[in-house]
Amino acid sequence: MSRSVRLVPATAALLALALTACDGGVHGTPGSSGVHDPYFPKAGNGGYDVGHYDLTLDYTPAGRRLTGTAVITARATQDLSAFNLDLAGLHVDSVTVEGKQALFERAGQELTVRPHDDLSKGETFSTTVRYSGTPQTLTDPDGSKEGWLPTADGAVGLGEPVGSMAWFPSNNHPSDKASYDVTVTVPKGFQAVSNGELADQSTKDGRTAYHWHTAQPMASYLATVAIGHFDIRRTTGPHGLPILTAVDATQAEDSKETLAKIPDIIAWEEINFGPYPFSSAGAIVTRPGDEGYALETQNRPVFPADEFETTTVVHELAHQWYGDSVTPKSWQDMWLNEGFATYAEWLYQEDHGGKSAQQTFQDLYDGDNEAIWAYPPAKPTSAAHISDSPVYQRGAMVLQKIRQKVGDDTFYDIIQGWAAARRHGSANTADFTAYVEKKDPNHDFSEIWKDWLYGDGKPAHP
Ligand code: TRP
Ligand code: ZN
Repeated sequence: MSRSVRLVPATAALLALALTACDGGVHGTPGSSGVHDPYFPKAGNGGYDVGHYDLTLDYTPAGRRLTGTAVITARATQDLSAFNLDLAGLHVDSVTVEGKQALFERAGQELTVRPHDDLSKGETFSTTVRYSGTPQTLTDPDGSKEGWLPTADGAVGLGEPVGSMAWFPSNNHPSDKASYDVTVTVPKGFQAVSNGELADQSTKDGRTAYHWHTAQPMASYLATVAIGHFDIRRTTGPHGLPILTAVDATQAEDSKETLAKIPDIIAWEEINFGPYPFSSAGAIVTRPGDEGYALETQNRPVFPADEFETTTVVHELAHQWYGDSVTPKSWQDMWLNEGFATYAEWLYQEDHGGKSAQQTFQDLYDGDNEAIWAYPPAKPTSAAHISDSPVYQRGAMVLQKIRQKVGDDTFYDIIQGWAAARRHGSANTADFTAYVEKKDPNHDFSEIWKDWLYGDGKPAHP
């Protein structure tokens, strides 16, 4: 007999009591409903670590209906009687853990799963969530839109910082990275593009399934799927790196020139940042007015066609090293993403006949954009401000301060070494400052950290 009752919260509490004294084996406690992110406290969940997401999605643009099955393989990091996943909206049809029906309940973005049998610390377990409905567009504290964004002829799923929970259940925090298989079935004639490599494509009964495989660890905020009519092209980058680009069919002509620059930009970034961290690269180019901003989704950043120009490509591709491969441990460490990606733009300009990074730094210091000094890069004032200019420009200025102190050779050793040392991992600001100090023990960085990284207001000297 299954216990697949959909619980109302009151009975859930009673059942929780009744089920704690269960049949032998381990006696776990519930995993926490967040991981104490200072900006998004409900994001992520405690008690387990995901290794792999296998998502099978079916979407029909007319009607905006999604049906999904998420098979999540995770390892328990404590004895667990229950655990949470993050999922916003949609209808959950069933949950099984290790093949057995599980109890579940929902409250806001928290999907609480109570497995039939408690899970023991160290155990690897598989959870299957079946769900359906019209996925939501979420509005962030800063007013930007993410989650599921219907486009002129399809949809795009985007997730920075928390929007992936609008289209699949997950441990929705950058500290838990995993590999992915994403299979999206759409009406024949549509394409569905995601991260990683296209493993398989097949058409049956008027619908086409696209199976994308992401082998290297990926944070949930970097997962994407774009559904529409795309001009899909393959080329290669340095060392034969597979590059797959998908350009909205109406934008193909206008995007040609920038598209052709991708291999050279990756080659330039490899010289500056070290080996490209993933097994494929590319871009997704959408119509202006679709999602409206670029995002560094893994392998294949998303660009609105009107922002698909060299500087933005340099920025989003630099994130593949800084953000996607070396991922922030929490949303407080956002400057490790944006400061580096912005600095990449400065360096690119310096190397291509434009002004030097030092000049860009000096111009910002002398300029009248006071917003840069609103708060220090390592301490955004609130979730509404994690992507403001102190994180981007002043974050990049921190890197220029390091370069001023150590000189070019050591500076490149530091930025390449950092990408290598934390490759496919996670890091926070303290990890970075400790890394810099270890790389160059002959210099004192304490003033830079104090004034530029953590200090309020505009530092007294450039
Ligand atoms: N990370 C993106 C970039 O720099 C910008 C961005 C898009 C963003 N959506 C966001 C930043 C949500 C923070 C939160 O290209
Ligand atoms: Zn960025």
